[in-house]
Amino acid sequence: TQRVLTGITTTGTLHLGNFVGAVRPAIAASREPGVESFFFMADYHALIKCDEPDRIEASRLQIAATWLAAGLDTSRVVFYRQSDIPEIPELTWLLTCVTSKGQMNRAHAYKGAVDANVAAGEDPDAGITMGLYSYPILMAADILMFNAHRVPVGKDQVQHIEMARDVAQRFNHLFGRGQDFFVLPEANVEADMALLPGLDGRKMSKSYDNVIPLFEGGAKAMREAVARIVTDSRLPGEPKDADNSHLVTIYDAFATPAQRAAFRAELRAGLGWGEAKQRLVDLIEAEIGPMRERYEALMAHPERIEAILQEGAAKARALAAPLLAQLREAVGLRRFQ
Ligand code: TYM
Repeated sequence: TQRVLTGITTTGTLHLGNFVGAVRPAIAASREPGVESFFFMADYHALIKCDEPDRIEASRLQIAATWLAAGLDTSRVVFYRQSDIPEIPELTWLLTCVTSKGQMNRAHAYKGAVDANVAAGEDPDAGITMGLYSYPILMAADILMFNAHRVPVGKDQVQHIEMARDVAQRFNHLFGRGQDFFVLPEANVEADMALLPGLDGRKMSKSYDNVIPLFEGGAKAMREAVARIVTDSRLPGEPKDADNSHLVTIYDAFATPAQRAAFRAELRAGLGWGEAKQRLVDLIEAEIGPMRERYEALMAHPERIEAILQEGAAKARALAAPLLAQLREAVGLRRFQ
């Protein structure tokens, strides 16, 4: 069997980029025969970006409901909160002790924060916590704890998965004695939608304030966001450059190949941007609308979601605990006899 695993940080609600880059491909993979899947809320990861407890609490529930509304089948997927699995922080420490500092210095998130400090003329490490710095090690523990083969993510996470591979390799090499404890994971990046652009054409991201929300604010918020997608100034009737429009890229993420070709042909024939945006809203809504209804229904029953996650945590721990016991043995944390 192939193991597929992915997580989402619980710092807010999801946008279409998260859906297209992670949730949708992960759920599709979980339906393949012979696949065992592990999807989770990365709520320990959330602590490094967010010091608002209420927001973290709300986000954990919202993201759990989002996975379920998007079609996650709990009979096929082990579905849990990272913080319900104490074996994960324990593994994080074992991995931390075999990870070189130099490699963490090269992590994008940390480097980005340092660069921003330097550009602002501040101390390079100003405001940078050890949580941010060792973020990739916690993520490696998430992946290695369940020996995942494939990790469906957007392109922005690929470096982290490469780091997880390196850490796994080093641990296997140091302690394996011919037996590999860890599978070497691979990132699964959807070729077409590695990174969904946002309203302004940059990567869709909350931090750029350029997102189209998945469920938050309902169909109205979706429509309003689409209306703000930046387009060129060509008027209705003028042919549009369909190949250089991020509106078209977003359309593609929800369209069949036939719909993609038809949309391009219409734009070249002079379809106005206003009309094009209406087509985009209709297309997104056709897929997302029914999910949003399920989401609202799920959000009305947090206690049901809690029960699902408790069950998921029990399944996850039943796998994590024996592996961790082996790893403790391997590094020398053994009982006296
Ligand atoms: P996070 O929570 O920032 O994002 C969740 C997922 O959404 C993808 N994504 C995108 N994909 C396409 N286009 C975009 N514009 C876009 N924006 C975000 C991300 O690539 C990600 O797949 N560190 C991770 C969470 C995590 C994790 C893990 C993932 C923790 N442990 C173990 C996989 C395996 C993160 O912060 O993702």
